[in-house]
Amino acid sequence: MSQTEGGALRVAVLGKGAREAGLARRIAEEIGADAVVVVPGNAGTPGSTGPLGEGAALAAALRAREVGLVVIGPEALLAAGVADQLRAAGFAVVGPGAQGALLEGSKAYCKAFLLRHQIPTAAVVEVRSPADDAAAFATFPGPAVAKYDGLAEGKGVVVCDDPDQLRAALADLRARFGASAHVLIEERLTGPELSVFLLVADGAYVELPEARDHKRLLEGDQGPNTGGMGAISPVLAADDPLRARIRAEIIAPTVRGLAADGLPFRGFLFIGLMLTPAGPKVLEFNTRLGDPEAQVILPRIEGALVPLLAGCAQGALPVGAVRTSPRHVAGVVIARDGYPSAAIEAAPLLPTVSVRGAHLVVGSAVVDPAGVVRLPGGRALTAVGVGDSAAAARHRAYRLAGEVVEQAPAAFQLRPDVGRRPRLAVFASGGGSNLRAITAACAAGALRGLAEVGLVVSDRPRCGAVEWSRAAGLEVWAERRLPDAGAEWEAQAAAAVEAAGCDLVVLAGFMRVLGAAFVARFEGRIINIHPADTRQHQGLGGYEQAWERRLDETLITVHLVDGGLDTGPILAQAPVDLRGARSLDEVRTRGLAVEHALYPRTIERVLRSGSVGALTVGEE
Ligand code: AMP
Ligand code: GLY
Repeated sequence: MSQTEGGALRVAVLGKGAREAGLARRIAEEIGADAVVVVPGNAGTPGSTGPLGEGAALAAALRAREVGLVVIGPEALLAAGVADQLRAAGFAVVGPGAQGALLEGSKAYCKAFLLRHQIPTAAVVEVRSPADDAAAFATFPGPAVAKYDGLAEGKGVVVCDDPDQLRAALADLRARFGASAHVLIEERLTGPELSVFLLVADGAYVELPEARDHKRLLEGDQGPNTGGMGAISPVLAADDPLRARIRAEIIAPTVRGLAADGLPFRGFLFIGLMLTPAGPKVLEFNTRLGDPEAQVILPRIEGALVPLLAGCAQGALPVGAVRTSPRHVAGVVIARDGYPSAAIEAAPLLPTVSVRGAHLVVGSAVVDPAGVVRLPGGRALTAVGVGDSAAAARHRAYRLAGEVVEQAPAAFQLRPDVGRRPRLAVFASGGGSNLRAITAACAAGALRGLAEVGLVVSDRPRCGAVEWSRAAGLEVWAERRLPDAGAEWEAQAAAAVEAAGCDLVVLAGFMRVLGAAFVARFEGRIINIHPADTRQHQGLGGYEQAWERRLDETLITVHLVDGGLDTGPILAQAPVDLRGARSLDEVRTRGLAVEHALYPRTIERVLRSGSVGALTVGEE
């Protein structure tokens, strides 16, 4: 391989976006700016060469620049076989050939691989014409996901709530990709997403830091899907048992499967997971790094990355060699106005800003006729903050982003909630003692830094819980629930919960059984506390029956809510010592003390399990 004057390897990163700029930045830190080129890159990224052609012309141009190692960024180049061409021309290349790239480029190929190697994933029915639809509708009568088989720049997946939406999605995909478009209809999974990154070479792999992307355009996961509006790393605590589970159930069988299939693969593998109540499942493979994920995982790779890349390219990956920094990184994408469509304002200048512990990565920049660097459109910049906690990293990223936006407010947009903590919607109809305990735990107890109360919901606008919430400055949605209008009330409450960006519905002395539509909408994300053992006593009067029967002990239960009356899976139970209790009041007082301790602790466990919400570790 070519050596630069300093003796280091010269590396070319192919692509023009923020992912490639982030790669080049990390590599330059390690082996010097002179030893990295970005092809073509962009006007805001050091080392950018501009277009160097394709095929033999590209190979010759890289050779002329004494490039030995090539890292390919975008999926389109991989799918087009650029890795194969450059390997044939004698370059060491990080990135799979066209065949390996099918793991990303064809969702059917990916699904067949997952099923063949028994890697957990959503159940599927494939359709190639309207004649196949009946089988899919029969298999998935409820929520489902329609995915076009081929590369579609993030616009080939439609998540549907019901068969009507699925029908519309199929019609839409067929209108865009042809009447016989190959479409996968999948079981719709629920849970938070997690992105896992590997460097893979010939059956060996190393794990890189994980990340979580924010794909929707607007705060609270609203608005259209984008390439990604922000990301954080880490997502899991270093000792989270989920890591071992993902390694055993997903990563190991995937790498073994590649080897067993004889599929040549040297490059990054980006595994998109959903952390479902039944465990982690694969949503997709990408055969490259992500944008903005690359911007947040690369700064966490400690020690030498370039030897790892070179080892990967040569099929001699040093196993287990990646040192991961415990520091936190947050990336806030600063998109141009109008994104994901075209920019509307005139292109602003590439800003010069600086904040300690933060840096800008440039995703799209051009030189105007006057020789000035401008940001014409798309996801123009990523503000990357690094810190000892998630909150510190986020704070630095937003300070830097704020300085950018200040220079041309109308020209930029960003999400204000990258890496924010999960929000609870607390439902209460009474005095709100559990609500107060949970709020206190968010401020200073078990939930400190882990969660916040995003909304208080009540069907009794004058109850103690509502009055206390208003006085405490909490956001409240309280509407009387009229007889015969329960479904309507629940639909409005659900909309309020979603508008407030809440991740978990916490019933805290809420005197109603929620209907099936509400439960389905927040499936696996509604919990209730019950003043008895739900296996023995359901409904009202938990403390009354304990008192009347003069029990020595009763059990408090926290459970997931399904459609029934106190029937969902039990999450936690704690005993209440009732010996010597002299009145119903005393029974209740002792019980509530246990409730107020148990509920926050159980919420903490639910959030830490990763099955709910956008939990980030290491909050302050
Ligand atoms: P994909 O391109 O397959 O990653 O899909 C894009 C996005 O659609 C994912 O990040 C998920 O948010 C969502 N998605 C894909 N498949 C499913 C599924 N089976 N269940 C629920 N959501 C899904
Ligand atoms: N941020 C998602 C991707 O790069 O695919």
